[in-house]
Amino acid sequence: PAPGWSLSADVVVVGSGVAGLTAALRCEAAGLTTVVVTKARLDDGSTRWAQGGIAAALGEGDTPEQHQDDTLVAGAGLCDEEAVRILVTEGPDAVRRLIETGAQFDESSEGGLELTREGGHHRRRIAHAGGDATGAEISRALVEAVRAVRRGEREALSGKGGGGRRAGLRTVENALVLDLLTDAEGRTAGVTLHVMGEGQHDGVGAVHAPAVVLATGGMGQVFSATTNPSVSTGDGVALALRAGAEVSDLEFVQFHPTVLFLGSDAEGQQPLVSEAVRGEGAHLVDADGVRFMQGQHELAELAPRDIVAKGIMRRMQEQDAEHMFLDARHFGADMWEHRFPTILAACRAHGIDPVTEPIPVAPAAHYASGGVRTDSHGRTTVPGLYACGEVACTGVHGANRLASNSLLEGLVYAERIAADIAASHAETGLHARVPRPLPYPETPEHPLLTPEARFTIQRIMTNGAGVLRSAESLAKAADQLQQLHTDARDALAENGKTAEAGVDTWEATNLLCVARVLVTAARLREETRGCHWREDRPERDDTTWRRHIVVRLNPDRT
Ligand code: SIN
Repeated sequence: PAPGWSLSADVVVVGSGVAGLTAALRCEAAGLTTVVVTKARLDDGSTRWAQGGIAAALGEGDTPEQHQDDTLVAGAGLCDEEAVRILVTEGPDAVRRLIETGAQFDESSEGGLELTREGGHHRRRIAHAGGDATGAEISRALVEAVRAVRRGEREALSGKGGGGRRAGLRTVENALVLDLLTDAEGRTAGVTLHVMGEGQHDGVGAVHAPAVVLATGGMGQVFSATTNPSVSTGDGVALALRAGAEVSDLEFVQFHPTVLFLGSDAEGQQPLVSEAVRGEGAHLVDADGVRFMQGQHELAELAPRDIVAKGIMRRMQEQDAEHMFLDARHFGADMWEHRFPTILAACRAHGIDPVTEPIPVAPAAHYASGGVRTDSHGRTTVPGLYACGEVACTGVHGANRLASNSLLEGLVYAERIAADIAASHAETGLHARVPRPLPYPETPEHPLLTPEARFTIQRIMTNGAGVLRSAESLAKAADQLQQLHTDARDALAENGKTAEAGVDTWEATNLLCVARVLVTAARLREETRGCHWREDRPERDDTTWRRHIVVRLNPDRT
């Protein structure tokens, strides 16, 4: 069906984490009418779950160059050096602007920012808030800033605001993005959405805009156990693929080394135990209490994340164990309560008291280092389509993201995108485009999946494309995913439709789309590098593989 309702704006921002809300606030401040659409509520999504913090060279003696060196080492030869240089040099001021926007970070007794360490960082450079609730504070501050702008607009409209001009910032919640609208020349014309119960906006609708900023977050839900919330279903990457944009580095899925182990059959979002716990001196030990990371890397427990995850997995294999332990009993109750209140509460809620016992931990899917390919202004390969935050592949993470660089990347590149859109606006004006109709809800190339397929995909991906991969496991996963697609296509041909179009079906369909590309890339990359670990190809191969796997699907959906 054609969209039942529509809005128009200069810019539509899809997603409301650190990247999305920063982009929206900066666009609005530049005089652009801006609509933010988000799948659940404004503060749902991954940002609010971030614990450790935001990395930037803010401490005495630290420099952007040192931050750059650590980022490049973690990225295992695949970072884009210019993208990293931008991140680390613009990062400190971007954090200061975030503080001006209202985010309150923890301060030391001397009054400056209190900085901690995490894996791969040679210095204390991670700013944090509420101890271990950094993302929640950033989200609170940005949502509050958006509300303040909206209040200002209302007051200006009612004449109480002293006449201050407002460009206009609207938010539409409970709106799952479906597809990119493009005009006859292939330029961005807006997005279609499925909105649930938002007053006048119900059902499938569209926001028309010549600039679209994807800030939809990650795809952790493609695996059974992940630190990501249930909304992280790869919607932005799937949209970009269907729109014919280039997507890069999807094989580099980062598995966080220390996720609270709740059983080998635990599914869905799992509680994170921040790297900052190791940054403050916690030890990784096996069931015999042996610190197995010592001797494996000069930074031991604080080695880059891929090395620690591999160290844990190896020890688990050697000892036929389901998990290892993180021992921070020596912190004592006071430090646990003040520095890590969120983690303490999560552990206690599951019957584990970190003050008196080691925490069982195992790796789980955490972050997509790859995503929609962009240049240094956040532009994708489709004119008018931008991407920032976890959905994007700006090149800063390479084969393995350095801890706490993600919030920073979201901030820095969202600001660059807003500047780029404002500059185009100033130069030539932003012209509304006439969108070509899209074939909804499904086509033989893109049949919809039933909601239950989500769990099948997660099991296939966990077994075949998880922390440890091989040609054999990946080939099996590829066959199983292909079968899901074939079954859906056959059902469509037979019955005229596969499932009722709705959020669960779109999400399952998006998960299959990104899972298939991820597995294809992981099969192609016949080496071990960063967070891509091939058991059958255990060495890094710089001769053949110091390059990126870029995927582009045919945008012609008919
Ligand atoms: C953590 O707190 O360990 C997560 C930090 C990150 O993923 O960057």
